[in-house]
Amino acid sequence: MNKKITAGLLALILCFSGMTGCAGSDSSSEKDTSSSKAESAAESTAESTPESTPESTADSETASQPETPSQRPTNIIDGVDYLVLASYGNKLPDDWADKITIESFTNSQKYDVFVEKRAMAAYKELKAALEKEDVHIDIDTGYRSVAEQEEIMQRYRDRYGLEYVKQYVAVPGYSEHQSALAIDLYLTVDGKDIIYNEDLVQYPELWEKIHAKLADYGFILRYTKEKEDVTKFSYEPWHIRYVGSPEIAHEITDKGLALEEYLGVTIEKKPDAVDEKLVPVNTETIYQVALLQSLVQGYYNGIISVAALKERGDTGIGTFDGVNGELIMLDGVVYRAAADGTVEVVPDDEMIPFSNVTFFDVDGEFDVKDVKDFEAMKTELDKIVKENGKNLFYMVRVDGTFKSLKVRSEPKQEEPYKPLDEVLAAEQAEFDLENVEGTVVALYCPDYMNGLNTPGWHLHFISTDKTKGGHVLGINVDEAKVKYDATPGFKMYLSGTDEFQSMDLAKNVDQAIHDAETKTND
Ligand code: DAL
Ligand code: ZN
Repeated sequence: MNKKITAGLLALILCFSGMTGCAGSDSSSEKDTSSSKAESAAESTAESTPESTPESTADSETASQPETPSQRPTNIIDGVDYLVLASYGNKLPDDWADKITIESFTNSQKYDVFVEKRAMAAYKELKAALEKEDVHIDIDTGYRSVAEQEEIMQRYRDRYGLEYVKQYVAVPGYSEHQSALAIDLYLTVDGKDIIYNEDLVQYPELWEKIHAKLADYGFILRYTKEKEDVTKFSYEPWHIRYVGSPEIAHEITDKGLALEEYLGVTIEKKPDAVDEKLVPVNTETIYQVALLQSLVQGYYNGIISVAALKERGDTGIGTFDGVNGELIMLDGVVYRAAADGTVEVVPDDEMIPFSNVTFFDVDGEFDVKDVKDFEAMKTELDKIVKENGKNLFYMVRVDGTFKSLKVRSEPKQEEPYKPLDEVLAAEQAEFDLENVEGTVVALYCPDYMNGLNTPGWHLHFISTDKTKGGHVLGINVDEAKVKYDATPGFKMYLSGTDEFQSMDLAKNVDQAIHDAETKTND
């Protein structure tokens, strides 16, 4: 799903200034589309050839494929083939943009969306029919230019990670969103727009109702659970495709076929093009997800996945969606120190509202012994700052034996969220650990970070046996090795949701941060 097209939008608006077809594989070329339009053509003379669909071919793995698109079934109406295939290895015809007419409207998120005119008319009927059943859909994206597809790919990489992109985002130029016949839907539930994929999948019963109606309006569910092997994409309940007529949509749907099967085409494999398209991470950078200030004020909705976090670093600290425990990333593994005192490895699809990570490389190290308390530990760590400068970031790991540690965690919260200091005052779980071996992961933020994070040191701990851990409130080191990574780069990732945008992030929450970082139940 696309979220909030910005950069690509200008090109799109220019492109559509004539309001005739401008889809296709090259968004940068302004094409003269006026002459090829058949606005006055007789109403929808379908040249559908579903009967020519080689059913045995569709069902047979060994069947030969139509050698050219012209040998595939078509559904041509006013010169537009509504069975056109855009997929791996299948680009749209060069003259596609000249043939279609695109219509637009502004969705409930206040973004203009663009869809081919017959698909748009059918969508409006589908939406009206669903509204009678109290099911509310809207269009997230219809048409996307190649440039927008690239932007989406990068945005998905940032939010969900590379593997997700490979499963859910088509290589620019090969997405059927470039045909303007595909629509990504979102839902409105109890007056609230449900936009993000991880939220949309929480409504299977609504999708069932939507999917049951698609064929009546000429749409198919394009990427089904059953046909992931055929389409080479993971199940997308939100992605629907207009095929031009209810008869063909029903034939495809009722037979349980993927569009590729109906057309008698096999998609061989995914290209590596995805990797090449994406911006690599800078290993000498601290990546920060949101702000400590947004977290402390109660913005606990995860904005990137664990998988995406692991592409930004291998060492760090943070928390999880709903502040479900303390996050420790060590050697590329993300652990949760939970409020019940357990530690677990966190799955890649869990979302994260706040974190700092980097790829750890050792810029310096020293030994410490008999460090009696938190203040003494900070004095030891401050040696790094004194030696290297107070205006860089430092990620530190302290591996050793600890005479004692006081660590805390917090249980998962439900919306509406309370501010973090209130949550911790009421529900903070504390654990006193003794004679334990493990690693403290510590972040130093310079003083000028006040407003975005907390200046100074922030420590999390995980035991070597990965059974205990949390946010460090008290410490007594027996002996340990301190290793640090001085990091000149800093990059933040923010949420685009209305809720995040409406927050007053300049509000002074210093006291709440201080309490959240340091207060114990003692
Ligand atoms: N999500 C579909 C596969 C696309 O990017 O076109
Ligand atoms: Zn889609």
